[in-house]
Amino acid sequence: MPRIAVVPGDGIGVDVTREAVKVMSAIRDKGGVDLNWDEFDYGADKYLETGITLPDEEIANFRDNYDAIYIGAVGDPRVPDMTHARDILLGCRFKLDLYVNYRPCHLLDESLCPLKDRTPEDVNFVVFRENTEGLYVGTGGIFKKGTPEEVAIQTSINTRKGVERIIRHGFEYAKANNMGKVCMSDKSNAMRFEGDLWQRTFFEVAEEYPEIEASHWFIDALLMQMVKRPEQFDVIVSCNMFGDIITDMGAQLCGGMGVAASGNIHPGKTSLFEPVHGSAPKYAGKDIANPLAAILTVGVMLETIGYPEWTPRLEDIVREMVKSGKVPRDMGGPLGTAGVGDVVCEMI
Ligand code: NAD
Ligand code: IPM
Ligand code: MN
Repeated sequence: MPRIAVVPGDGIGVDVTREAVKVMSAIRDKGGVDLNWDEFDYGADKYLETGITLPDEEIANFRDNYDAIYIGAVGDPRVPDMTHARDILLGCRFKLDLYVNYRPCHLLDESLCPLKDRTPEDVNFVVFRENTEGLYVGTGGIFKKGTPEEVAIQTSINTRKGVERIIRHGFEYAKANNMGKVCMSDKSNAMRFEGDLWQRTFFEVAEEYPEIEASHWFIDALLMQMVKRPEQFDVIVSCNMFGDIITDMGAQLCGGMGVAASGNIHPGKTSLFEPVHGSAPKYAGKDIANPLAAILTVGVMLETIGYPEWTPRLEDIVREMVKSGKVPRDMGGPLGTAGVGDVVCEMI
C-alpha cells in the first residue's frame, strides 16, 4: 500500500494540491491503486507563526515511513528571503540526495504549443536536471554588506560523482525507452573548470552507449534550438541552474506552467514530486490556478513508485479535455481549478 506525504505548501500550491489529492482519491477508489496519504502543513504560515521550516526529523520520517513526498509549491511574498522554501524544497532535494530532477516535456496537443506548426511528435523530450550540486549548494558569502565595497560570492560545486550519475541516468533512460539521442548542455566555452568536468564525463560515459547519439549545445544555443528545432531532442541533461531555466522554457513549449510535471528522484529511494511551477501568489485561493501540472505530477509519482500506467492514462485524459475544450482559463477554456479536478476524476 503506497504511502504519500503530502505538503500543499503556499499560494496556489494549496489550490492545486487539493485537486491532486482528489485525483489520488479517484485513483484509489476507481483505479485500483491502494493509495494512502497524510498531509503536512509546512509552509510560510507555519514558518511565520513558529519559525519552523522543515525539521530534519520530519525529513527522516518521510524517508523511513513514506514511499513518496508530494509538494504543491512553496514561496510567499511575506518571506522575501525564501528561508522556509529553501529549507523545504532544497532541504528535501539535498538531504534525501534526490539527484535526478526529471522534467518531461510532452506536448499533449498541437493547440497548446506556442510555436507555429509543431506537433506532439516534434515536442517530445525529457530533461534531466542535476539536482544536488552546482550553483544551488549555498556555498559562498557576503563581505562588507551594505557598503560600496560589498562583495557577494556564490560558488558552483560540481563533483565527478554528481556529474557522472546524472549523465549516466540520462543515457540509461534513453536506452530503456528506445530513444536515440542524448544532448548535454553547459557553458564550457566561458566556464572552463566545471565545463571541462562536464565535457569529459559526458563523452566518456557516451562511449559506453555506442547505439545512442551524444550531442552538445552551449546553454544559450540550446535554448535557441529548443525553439527552432525542438524535434532534435530526446533527452537533455544539464546542471542544476541551467536545468531550471531549460525546464521553464520546456514547460512553455508544451502549453505553459499549468501543465508541467516533475519528479525529484533518487532511484529506489523515497523521492519528491511537484509541479514545475511555483506558488503564483497573485492567483492563490481564487479558483484560477491550473491544477493539471499537479495532476500529471501524480502520474509521474505513481510511475516512479511502480505504477507506470498512470502517466499515459492521465496524459490521455488531458488530451481528451483539450479536444473537448474542458480546460482552465490559462489554456483558453472556462474551467476553474476545482472544475478541472472534477473533470479528471469523472474521467478516471
Ligand atoms: P510561478 O511559477 O509561481 O508563476 C509564474 C507565472 O506562471 C504566474 O504568474 C502564472 O502566470 C503562471 N503560472 C504558474 N503556475 C500556474 C498554474 N498552475 N496555473 C496557471 N498559471 C500558472 O513563478 P514565480 O512567480 O517566479 O514565483 C512565485 C513564487 O513561487 C516565488 O516565491 C518562487 O520562489 C516560488 N517558486 C516555487 C517553486 C516550487 O515550489 N517548486 C517553483 C518555482 C517558483
Ligand atoms: C523549481 C524552482 C526552484 C528551483 C526554486 C523555488 C528554488 O524554480 O523547482 O524549478 O530553482 O529549483
Ligand atoms: Mn524553476
